Amino acid sequence: MKETAILKADNSARRAKAVSVAAKIIRRGGIVAFPTETVYGLGADALNPKAVRKIFRAKRRPFDDPLIVHISNVRRLHDLAERVDVRTKILAERFWPGPLTLVLKKSKIVPKITTAGLGTVAVRMPSHKTALMLMEEAGCPIAAPSANLFGKPSPTSAGHVKHDLGGRIDAIIDGGKTRIGVESTVLDVTGKTPVLLRPGGIALEQLEKVIGKIKVHPLVKSMAKKGSKGPAARSPGMKYRHYAPKAEVIVVLGKKARGGVIRLIGKSDAMNVGVISGTGKGFRAGLVKKIGKNPKKAAHEIYSALREFDLPQNAHIKKIFVDGSMLSDEKGLGLAVKNRLFRAAARVVHAN
Ligand code: TXA
Ligand code: MG
Repeated sequence: MKETAILKADNSARRAKAVSVAAKIIRRGGIVAFPTETVYGLGADALNPKAVRKIFRAKRRPFDDPLIVHISNVRRLHDLAERVDVRTKILAERFWPGPLTLVLKKSKIVPKITTAGLGTVAVRMPSHKTALMLMEEAGCPIAAPSANLFGKPSPTSAGHVKHDLGGRIDAIIDGGKTRIGVESTVLDVTGKTPVLLRPGGIALEQLEKVIGKIKVHPLVKSMAKKGSKGPAARSPGMKYRHYAPKAEVIVVLGKKARGGVIRLIGKSDAMNVGVISGTGKGFRAGLVKKIGKNPKKAAHEIYSALREFDLPQNAHIKKIFVDGSMLSDEKGLGLAVKNRLFRAAARVVHAN
């Protein structure tokens, strides 16, 4: 156990102080959680293999799951990637800083451990001011996966990080709740046609408007079973079942999803089931969490809703039914929310 410092960044003076302390830790090879616009990240100097190893250890993340390297200046991209083509430049110019991660052929300076031995590196420039300041002051690119224990929902508040990693990391910069709530979009631009590996904060249709047709990796819309190898997981993280609370998650999709959930509750021991839905109204169950009626609101709330079911006082909840009626189209953040629910789910059913 180590002491995890909580560094408040709720005004500009405190933010400057927090960043200065955190940057020092990173420069010395330590690990610090920090806010981004998507979710909290757990950062270390991306070019220091010993520091990066600490991230995997703290999260209990398998060493075959590569990290995203965060930068605060596009010039860095040219150090990290072997080649930056025109298409990549256009994407970076249009969407950075922001929730887009680009997978490129890696240069020699990126240590093997950071990319889990792959020949590619994932790079993103976040738009959160604190994250950008931290990189500037640390003076290095920062490798950062989401700051949760492996398999748990990504953290959207400093409290979530503390719950999972308190005593395992050097510090947490507390910048409040994150704005978007789901992770960045991961796009592989190493081939002729770009491939969407993970839907996220930037919508597929926004990307296609700028660079044309994108292939969607088949695992994006399918369920990943725990530990299964899956069909050629291009992004190693895709093959794992993620974000899953202890209770079994059953996602109900379709126009009549709400009715479907009510029927499922009827067949269960109502006080020992939970519900996640848009408005949360009209369900009689042990715990009902509302996440908002549109995909953007749902993205913001989904991870903290899933986490709540793992709190000790909710240990009696054995099943969680998700009313997925707000996911009828996959536009905007809809595809990302659906993908995360699929990853948390034991089953997906349709109620049409
Ligand atoms: O929004 C985000 O992206 C957050 C914040 C902290 O920036 N980070 C994040 O990192 O979600 P992480 O490690 O939880 O998810 C990174 C995903 C994983 O699925 C990983 O397999 C994939 O990106 N990835 C990383 N490097 C890759 C590479 N070289 N090729 C393919 N996929 C890669
Ligand atoms: Mg993650």
